[in-house]
Amino acid sequence: MQIIDFRSDTITKPTPAMRAAMAAAEVGDDVLGDDPTVIRLEELAARRVGKEVGLFVASGTMGNLVSLLAQCGRGDEVIVGDQAHTFYYEQGGMAALGGIQPRTLRNRPDGTLDLDEIVAAIRDPRNLHYPRTRLITVENTHNRCSGTPLTVEYMQALGKVAREHGLRIHLDGARLFNAAVALGVDVKALTADVDTLTFCLSKGLAAPVGSVVCGDRAFIAEARRSRKVVGGGMRQAGIIAAAGIVALEQMVDRLAEDHAHAAALAAGLAEVPGLQVDAVSVRTNILYFRITRPDLDAAQLVARLAARGVLMLDLDPRRARAVLNYHVTAEDVQAALAVVRAVMA
Ligand SMILES: Cc1ncc(COP(=O)(O)O)c(C=O)c1O
Repeated sequence: MQIIDFRSDTITKPTPAMRAAMAAAEVGDDVLGDDPTVIRLEELAARRVGKEVGLFVASGTMGNLVSLLAQCGRGDEVIVGDQAHTFYYEQGGMAALGGIQPRTLRNRPDGTLDLDEIVAAIRDPRNLHYPRTRLITVENTHNRCSGTPLTVEYMQALGKVAREHGLRIHLDGARLFNAAVALGVDVKALTADVDTLTFCLSKGLAAPVGSVVCGDRAFIAEARRSRKVVGGGMRQAGIIAAAGIVALEQMVDRLAEDHAHAAALAAGLAEVPGLQVDAVSVRTNILYFRITRPDLDAAQLVARLAARGVLMLDLDPRRARAVLNYHVTAEDVQAALAVVRAVMA
């Protein structure tokens, strides 16, 4: 049976060019600063996103965690969306490991936070009863908000608010390049207003492991310390960094194909009775759809699709998610739609 896997873009396997680069990678002890391939990836990444320095980390979760640990102390407050990956899916790492308090605001359906609500949430530093607000964190694209890209205009407005109140901004850019490709802008336009960011190599860009944290020199020095304390100092990490370089050099522009496939899948699903998808809101490679038939829930639908080789995730009782990725072709999308129609009939 042919498997068509829409569970996530994290299922992507390294390309032949990545495997060749990994086999040939020059390596050294990266904790001692000796790995030339890691250094090359960090420099390339920092240049791409317009920041001074990069830091290779094991995962997006580690990238977010070390970024927050490096910028916030115990009892400090971080303003974060209630649907943000950093809040929703990272085991409360900022609180558990950093003593950092998340101050959640409602994410709007497009993944943004209301700027007035942000201003209202900022604590008065003169009042000794309050924690100190240090940082705002946002996510681009926004995973739980239909993979929506935050726009350049929004990032500029957010930057203005942060500067006016002396706050820093961290960007969880796990899928930052999807946002830039979908919006047709240079990625630097989306990062100019943030102080720190992390992006993932191992999602749509198909590298097997890793993310890069970027920011200024002083921040990265702190983040490097934080990476060590969470056990993220890797030694001959050039083996995996080599695939990350290929990811950045060869896999960014093709993300547009994933977005086109997502739009085709959304259009097809929207025509199936019993399913509801807001096809217009599908902007990148992630789509969510609702099961409106009362006799079927998302878990049952996902199980029936899986039995026929189409893999998706049920993320709540009435909603399922499909994520387009490098291994799914336009023909696969049509084949998967035929399976969905058969199952729903
Ligand atoms: C928006 C976002 N941030 C962070 C992460 C964490 O990445 P990782 O799985 O590499 O820890 C993910 C993972 O899916 C994500 O979607």
